[in-house]
Amino acid sequence: MDDLTPVHLRDGTEAFVVPLLPANREAFRQEFEHLSAETRFDRFLAVVPRLTDTMLDHLVDEVDGADHVALVLLVITEDGTELPLGLARIIRYPDDPTAADVAVTVVDDWHGRGVATALLEVLMQHRPKGVERIVTVINASNHASLAMLRRLGEVEVSQPESGVQFVVIDLPGSADSTPPERGPVDTSIHTGRGTSLRRLDPPEPPASRAPTT
Ligand SMILES: CC(C)(COP(=O)(O)OP(=O)(O)OC[C@H]1O[C@@H](n2cnc3c(N)ncnc32)[C@H](O)[C@@H]1OP(=O)(O)O)[C@@H](O)C(=O)NCCC(=O)NCCS
Repeated sequence: MDDLTPVHLRDGTEAFVVPLLPANREAFRQEFEHLSAETRFDRFLAVVPRLTDTMLDHLVDEVDGADHVALVLLVITEDGTELPLGLARIIRYPDDPTAADVAVTVVDDWHGRGVATALLEVLMQHRPKGVERIVTVINASNHASLAMLRRLGEVEVSQPESGVQFVVIDLPGSADSTPPERGPVDTSIHTGRGTSLRRLDPPEPPASRAPTT
């Protein structure tokens, strides 16, 4: 993807979507701690007060731009500071190359303003090749998350246990139905931009959750 994709939020605010870079690791760790406990819980379906090094390895260093894509939406303030507002990632399931998990986190003050909608639109354009289906788990009371996911395609929801919902979405118009051959990792997502992004978003899923996030 281009290093910087311009987008507009619901109220017309100009924003940009950029790849998450290894250089963002420390800022990402700090930003996560500024999220509300509710937002952190909804993201991980668990109490996660802070990100450990192991989580950061997965959430930042393992982003490869091929099977694991992570994008940040930011606005640029009047004094030129890059202000990250949300992060979205998609991770292919190792045992089913046509399916992937999706996770999104938006900073609390910007909820309901179209950050997730804008991020997901760009994320879907850059999803791992061959992914035709999103399979994920959300908090059953997380209406915003379900609404956000419904924009992606036809949604099937099941609730095998109280408190959570399993969501499967068939993505329309799969860009490339052929899963990539396993080979050298495409590292292009890590090149080119060296900003000091503050950041949001987090760790490995609890064992009960689907693979990624
Ligand atoms: C879920 C989350 C990512 C949504 O981000 P957002 O930027 O607020 O979402 P948007 O403004 O783009 O809105 C997306 C949809 O959710 C709806 N929505 C937003 N907030 C809502 C709320 N509080 N209740 C119900 N629906 C809501 C919007 O109306 C929109 O639906 P529409 O397209 O049918 O109008 C954000 O609330 C968040 O970070 N929550 C905590 C982490 C989380 O739950 N992540 C998802 C699971 S990984």
